[in-house]
Amino acid sequence: MSPTKPGSAAAGATRDTLTIVDNRTGRQYEIPVKNDTIRALDLRQIKVNEADFGMMSYDPAFTNTASCMSKVGFIDGDKGILRYRGYPIEELAEKSSYLETAYLILYGELPTKSQLADWSSNITHHTFIHESIKKFLDGFHYDAHPMGMLISTVAALSTFYPDAKDIFNPDSRRKQTYRLIGKMPTLAAFAYRHSLGMPYVYPDNDLSYSGNFLNMLFRTTELQYRPNPTLERALDILFILHADHEQNCSSTAMRGVGSSQVDPYSATAAATAALYGPLHGGANEQVLRMLLEIGSVNEVPAYVKKVKAGEKLLMGFGHRVYKNYDPRARIVKRIAYEVFDVMGRNPLIDIALECERIALEDDYFVTRRLYPNVDFYTGLIYQAMGFPVTMFPVLFAIPRTSGWIAQWEEMLLDSEQKIARPRQVYIGYDQRSYIPLEHRS
Ligand code: SDX
Repeated sequence: MSPTKPGSAAAGATRDTLTIVDNRTGRQYEIPVKNDTIRALDLRQIKVNEADFGMMSYDPAFTNTASCMSKVGFIDGDKGILRYRGYPIEELAEKSSYLETAYLILYGELPTKSQLADWSSNITHHTFIHESIKKFLDGFHYDAHPMGMLISTVAALSTFYPDAKDIFNPDSRRKQTYRLIGKMPTLAAFAYRHSLGMPYVYPDNDLSYSGNFLNMLFRTTELQYRPNPTLERALDILFILHADHEQNCSSTAMRGVGSSQVDPYSATAAATAALYGPLHGGANEQVLRMLLEIGSVNEVPAYVKKVKAGEKLLMGFGHRVYKNYDPRARIVKRIAYEVFDVMGRNPLIDIALECERIALEDDYFVTRRLYPNVDFYTGLIYQAMGFPVTMFPVLFAIPRTSGWIAQWEEMLLDSEQKIARPRQVYIGYDQRSYIPLEHRS
């Protein structure tokens, strides 16, 4: 085959393969291409001599590596598209509810009326937590970060439900799914009430999923909490927007930890811990802290200068996949004004808008394709609704639980998947002998 210019079509190219020439040996290899990918294992045949282990791919942080086949979420980062099981996020945010969307994400189809009623009833009747869990919560400092409390209590659920280890039993998986989706808001609300030194508020089964969450957070002396419908709907839409996002850091943690066949509570605790990080679910908390640090619209240029000097990140901007406006951020921005109409305008919005205005025209951000992501505006809404910044990542973890479980179950049922155990490129010392203590300098 005559050498062709990189990227140009060779004469008669018709096969779904890559032809690789190893210039170290002159050998040629035909590697199958499927779904526009090659199997990394097909590279192992490429060797300089028979004693070689064979070639691997090297991809720190998996920037160009597919870890699985999935039908759950789809993102087109260049076009700013996000779909759950094929349904555009914009339509679900406008027409669906969080519980309906969670059902779709988990079971692949929008539920029928009776399926939705059964699903909602089961979730509602699994919102209570074992009374003993209150003892751990009471053991935390008053100023313990609620994400630390959530990670701990989700993991603790595995000790209350040993039947969850029966992970290949679909009935058991479904029951743990009810429990996890039902109890995450309760654990989160109890953590919040603990931080205030206020009594825990038990679930109210007469309220919606989001309405009950607001009840457990904010009810004081009233006999029955009545959520503000605008806030209840805004929170439900925010839950829809945060329900899944294909193979993000926390979903990868869920799959990776789950691949050891641990119970789903322990895997969910690992995913929650991944989400806690400031580069992932913790970003919305950091956005608020950044806006408070900037302090005024006039100070935005000075902050942007620090960002461009590499001293700071513009939190809430950028994304590994979206190289366009995050479609969720657009919806969140609209919801913000609806919440401000009820709760009063958050003055930080002006600083946020100025950051966005500058970033969308400044070459540093434009060339790096840094746009607002889902976290940029959510913090402004949560703050306007009365949440402390420490609760922001918790408000991300609650809805993402349905996405994590869907990814976990898909991994478990995928015959190609096994325990996650990547390779490495060893660049350390070759063999060397032990040095007695007295001879070490
Ligand atoms: C979420 O994966 C998901 O789907 C996550 C999520 C989900 O729903 O699960 O969408 C939720 O986590 C959204 C992202 C929230 N995080 C933040 O807002 C934190 C700030 N953003 C950055 O940390 C960053 O953009 C990441 C982590 C989100 C993405 O980083 P990448 O893809 O690894 O990109 P990179 O770090 O290689 O950056 C490329 C360049 C670098 O500059 P150069 O070295 O080329 O000069 O862009 C720069 C970075 O320094 N850059 C930023 C920046 N983000 C990237 N510079 C300033 N501010 C930023 N926010």
